[in-house]
Amino acid sequence: MKHVLVLYYSQSGQLKSVMDRLIEPLLQCSDVHCDYQEIEPVRPYPYPWPFYKFFNVFPEAVYLDGCPVKKLQLRENYDLILLGYTSWFLSPSIPVTGFLKSTQAKQVFKNTPVVTVIACRDMWLIAQEKMKGLLKDLDSRLLDNVVFTDQGKSLYTFVTTPRWMLSGRKDPFWFFPAAGIHKKEIRSASRFGERLCKALQNDEERGTFPLLCHMGAVNVNGKLIATEHIAHRSFLIWSKLIKKAGAPNSKGRNVVITIYTVFLLTLVLTVVPLNMLFRCILSPFRKKSLAKAIEYYEQPSGK
Ligand SMILES: Cc1cc2nc3c(=O)[nH]c(=O)nc-3n(C[C@H](O)[C@H](O)[C@H](O)COP(=O)(O)O)c2cc1C
Repeated sequence: MKHVLVLYYSQSGQLKSVMDRLIEPLLQCSDVHCDYQEIEPVRPYPYPWPFYKFFNVFPEAVYLDGCPVKKLQLRENYDLILLGYTSWFLSPSIPVTGFLKSTQAKQVFKNTPVVTVIACRDMWLIAQEKMKGLLKDLDSRLLDNVVFTDQGKSLYTFVTTPRWMLSGRKDPFWFFPAAGIHKKEIRSASRFGERLCKALQNDEERGTFPLLCHMGAVNVNGKLIATEHIAHRSFLIWSKLIKKAGAPNSKGRNVVITIYTVFLLTLVLTVVPLNMLFRCILSPFRKKSLAKAIEYYEQPSGK
């Protein structure tokens, strides 16, 4: 019998519905036992988010501070861990980071292969780099990565995802599509569970080769690589400023957050279109380096 630990933290239930579909075949697999557990912060985060609460978590998410999480009922070790997480400000969500920094995670992740499952708007590259670091600190091994992103072009989700987070509304409006991951994509997640079930029956998780290649597990949007790097650099600077301005939800912090959101909006309306134009002009000369970067971020489960 193989023991699989399935962990996730989901606010609206979207990531949970991805995990539900993904592990369906594993739950039906007679040789596999799944321990399906939700990571729960000691102090729950709101959903939908009041505006200032949303931006108040920004510095702690970026600097991977984590938060206290409730202890889980776990076995001492597992054959495989499936870790479902969402991206918060280009970083793993604070509760997931909190769990990965707990003493419980130190024991259970040690020497264990991990499949990360990401469900986010569409900016997950830096978050996954940070996740790789967290897993390395736990002496665990990233075996595969599966990514689900919100439907519609980046320009649309830049509006639809924050609207959903701040109001709870996912419905389509004007020319914008519905927020979140397309239902068809969520339904198709079971193909990964089927493959994992077969792999576990053949002890393939003990090897070093990824199990979910050639299944469309990861699609890297090359246009977002530079954007994520530029945004993350500015996130590091602004996070420091916001932290220095005061404790979470203090007046000082909210003042700097107000300045930051005005700055962010100005940036999006001016620098982002200019950057897109600049990249369009340069793209014929940067084909090789872009292809290399895409190949890197697609690892280990791409194509
Ligand atoms: C505070 C916060 C920050 C977010 N930042 C990002 C981000 O940087 N990149 C991204 O693709 N999605 C981002 N999202 C969207 C989430 O990754 C995810 O799609 C959304 O929270 C729904 O997940 P859930 O309801 O299953 O928890 C953010 C959401 C929240 C609440």
